[in-house]
Amino acid sequence: MHTRATDLVGIDVPIFAFSHCRDVVAAVSKAGGCGVLGAVAHSPEQLDIDLKWIESEVKGKPFGVDLLVPEKYAGAEEGGLEPRQLSDLLPEEHKAWVDDLLERYDVPPVPEDLAIPRGVGGMRIDPKSMAPLLDVLFQHDTALVASALGPPPPHFIERAHAAEIPVAALAGSVEHARRHAEAGADLIVAQGTEAGGHTGQIATMVLVPEVVDAVAPLPVLAAGGIARGRQLAAGMALGADGVWCGSVWLTTEEAETMPAVKEKFLEAGLGDTVRSRSITGKPARMLRTPWTDEWERPDGPGPLPMPMQPMLVGPALGRIHRVADKKGTGANDLATYFVGQVVGSMNTVKPTQRVVMEMVEEFIDSVERLEGLLHDEDD
Ligand SMILES: Cc1cc2nc3c(=O)[nH]c(=O)nc-3n(C[C@H](O)[C@H](O)[C@H](O)COP(=O)(O)O)c2cc1C
Repeated sequence: MHTRATDLVGIDVPIFAFSHCRDVVAAVSKAGGCGVLGAVAHSPEQLDIDLKWIESEVKGKPFGVDLLVPEKYAGAEEGGLEPRQLSDLLPEEHKAWVDDLLERYDVPPVPEDLAIPRGVGGMRIDPKSMAPLLDVLFQHDTALVASALGPPPPHFIERAHAAEIPVAALAGSVEHARRHAEAGADLIVAQGTEAGGHTGQIATMVLVPEVVDAVAPLPVLAAGGIARGRQLAAGMALGADGVWCGSVWLTTEEAETMPAVKEKFLEAGLGDTVRSRSITGKPARMLRTPWTDEWERPDGPGPLPMPMQPMLVGPALGRIHRVADKKGTGANDLATYFVGQVVGSMNTVKPTQRVVMEMVEEFIDSVERLEGLLHDEDD
């Protein structure tokens, strides 16, 4: 299949796969799509190891890397505070509330030698910790770089273009898509509210054709709620040049999704997700569990903005996830993760390559069915 998006990165099928798991990324690229490694939580050393591994697996087939480059973050005004300084700004009320939540759900403390202090680790979203990641990224044979949370900054675009690497940018609204195009992005990912992770409020069906028209002639990928061939066909019918999927890989054989969460995903229905600020401080779609419900409580303090919320809850989530596999426990009840509405269609564990093949097969069936609508039965 040839579209402007497949030609841009040199792939055979217009399926782009966002995943934090290098095995999924490599499997999709080997199947003819473009795996894109989500590297926001990688250290520069780990990113180098993973990209070397992917390169050895895909043997010249294209793959991409995705980083979160926000326009604004708390601390920027102060000249870029260190994570430890930022963690000193966490309100006592919030810290006490999180401690109490863990107590109420009987989540055991992490042994002292394993404990992660608040404000350390987690996402790299400030310019200071992003820079070494970019250095590693541009030493590798990357076919695409992607960024979310605001238009890609000029230094990012300039560096990518100097290395002849196209830049993709995620947009949840027409205005964002226009800003990405003006900033110099080569590929716009129009991501509807159905999507897992950070997401806006406009549905994919409504958003994609508007974005396609607004940024023409730039190619657009449809994202949010796409997990099968009929949805791939729908995305292309909306004017996209390909699709960008994230949730569907979370229940593949290769996915490193926590077993407790993977099990919940396989059982979840279409209505079991919620947009919540409880993990990152920005609205992100995830599985609804007592964790997300607790953060909505009117008598609670509510989430802090990014990047304070991940600093606040990072150690708590670590404490929950360490023991979440034990059924019938508070930790198991609380456990959640980012996932989109298509979680309701993810009912069996499959190898990644089969997911890609089935998407292509069902896409072909859909196109044939639609073509059949244009012909009389006697033709
Ligand atoms: C677990 C998970 C984590 C995500 N993290 C990121 C991220 O770090 N950067 C990003 O650009 N998009 C992220 N996304 C969004 C995906 O790139 C993609 O746009 C989205 O998953 C598409 O919708 P779908 O989930 O319905 O397939 C994430 C999605 C999921 C499911």
